[in-house]
Amino acid sequence: MQIQLETQPYASIDSDAIVTYVFDKDDKLDGVLGEIDRAMNGRLGSLAASGEITGKPLELLLLHFPEGLAAKKLLLVGAGKPEKFANSDLRKIAGTALRHLKSRGVKKFVFLAREGQRGPAAAQAAVEGLIVADFESNKYHTDKKDREIQSVALAGFDSGLGADLTAAIDHGRVLAESQNFARDLINEPSNKLTPRLLAAKAEAMAKEAGLGIEILDERKIAELKMGALIGVAQGSVEPPRVIVVRYTPENPRPGGPVLGLVGKAVTFDTGGISIKPANNMEKMKYDMGGGATMLGAMRAIAALKPSVPVIAVIPATENMPGGRAQKPGDVQVAMSGKTIEVINTDAEGRMVLADGVFYARKLGCTHLIDAATLTGAIEVALANVHVGAFGTPREYLDTFLESAKAAGEKMWPMPMDEEYQQMIKSEIADIRNTGNGKGGGASTGAWFIKEFAEDTPWIHLDIASTCWVDEGRPWLAKGPTGIAIRSIVDFALKM
Ligand code: BES
Ligand code: ZN
Ligand code: ZN
Repeated sequence: MQIQLETQPYASIDSDAIVTYVFDKDDKLDGVLGEIDRAMNGRLGSLAASGEITGKPLELLLLHFPEGLAAKKLLLVGAGKPEKFANSDLRKIAGTALRHLKSRGVKKFVFLAREGQRGPAAAQAAVEGLIVADFESNKYHTDKKDREIQSVALAGFDSGLGADLTAAIDHGRVLAESQNFARDLINEPSNKLTPRLLAAKAEAMAKEAGLGIEILDERKIAELKMGALIGVAQGSVEPPRVIVVRYTPENPRPGGPVLGLVGKAVTFDTGGISIKPANNMEKMKYDMGGGATMLGAMRAIAALKPSVPVIAVIPATENMPGGRAQKPGDVQVAMSGKTIEVINTDAEGRMVLADGVFYARKLGCTHLIDAATLTGAIEVALANVHVGAFGTPREYLDTFLESAKAAGEKMWPMPMDEEYQQMIKSEIADIRNTGNGKGGGASTGAWFIKEFAEDTPWIHLDIASTCWVDEGRPWLAKGPTGIAIRSIVDFALKM
């Protein structure tokens, strides 16, 4: 999909459709809306008077052959109350418009900015919304509908800001395409995305983006004594991989911080010997969502070039109940030397992250972020509304939450009190891989990972309930969301 700035007056642009948005209490019809209303001989005013245009969030009104406009359709999207309006609303508005018009066979349209949202930040948000909304999960359909948005023209933006606008559009495109890159990976079924195939895809991405990459195979993993990862992987005939991707800035500051991004990539989670019920088990192909998130973030980082070096470490494995599988009660020795009593083989994500996080520190990372589809408990706490964000020290987490806010991704700080640490004490090893069964499952899971991050500033994002949505939204297809990438990249850029 092409997206370009349009400087021609919007009324004369010949296109399939023109999209703009209407605020709640916008009945004065000023600015752009007033212009359109006058061109249409007051028709918008009459529609508003009859209650057809209310400005309620994402309410849609599609008018055909609007007078005074060269475009064939006019789509008005409700924008809610102006005092509450933020760039995240612009993403949703642009995305909703795209999905609505695409389903009606529109090929090209104009997105018309309004007074107050004509600068680079607004342009970036609109571009992000458009590209994320354009994503489809149709790779394995043999009979594809030929619905395609070929181009979107951005009109009404402040032409005095030419270069800044172009940069913002590029920035938005990189972020959204990286998000879609991750979503494509997350969609892949596990027979098409084993740990080895994920490593190959990471390699191809790294080559294209100009990133360094190293793939650790099962021999290297054994040599490094990654016992927690091996414990999970031993139940499968597919060998594990650890994917290490590196971004090095042009003039790295000697002795400066190094950001480590660790992503859980369980390409399929059956639960292992503590096997999961059959119902919905097919969804466990997305248990590599944390790893995909970090690959998506690295792809964007390569293009946006923060000044901090970034290393992604992605432990990839299946969790299978094969004849050699680890069993409840087994004790594994992690790379750090800590011993783990495996109470439940389905709590495998924290085990692969234990070695991933420790290895990232070995590689010199001074600051860590991990992302993982770690617990069902996070869905109980936050539904699919917020990502669960854990971290120590608290100030480090708070800085990250600022980035999440800037990126328009909802995340909620979760507790890391020491009482949760007590719950993963084991009778026979240093720690156990589950809590005591009396709740707090997301926090005990986080504490398990922290045992390997120790005092390194660390953030853990539990994306189990937000990485995938079962129901589409007007601005987003159902399936993988690509959440957390924008926040992580924003954080890296500000570090
Ligand atoms: N991959 C799952 C978590 C998950 C659940 C992701 C639902 C996406 C949707 C994880 O490996 C898991 O099974 N966690 C267990 C941990 C428990 C055994 C302590 C869980 O949450 O039930
Ligand atoms: Zn599991
Ligand atoms: Zn899992």
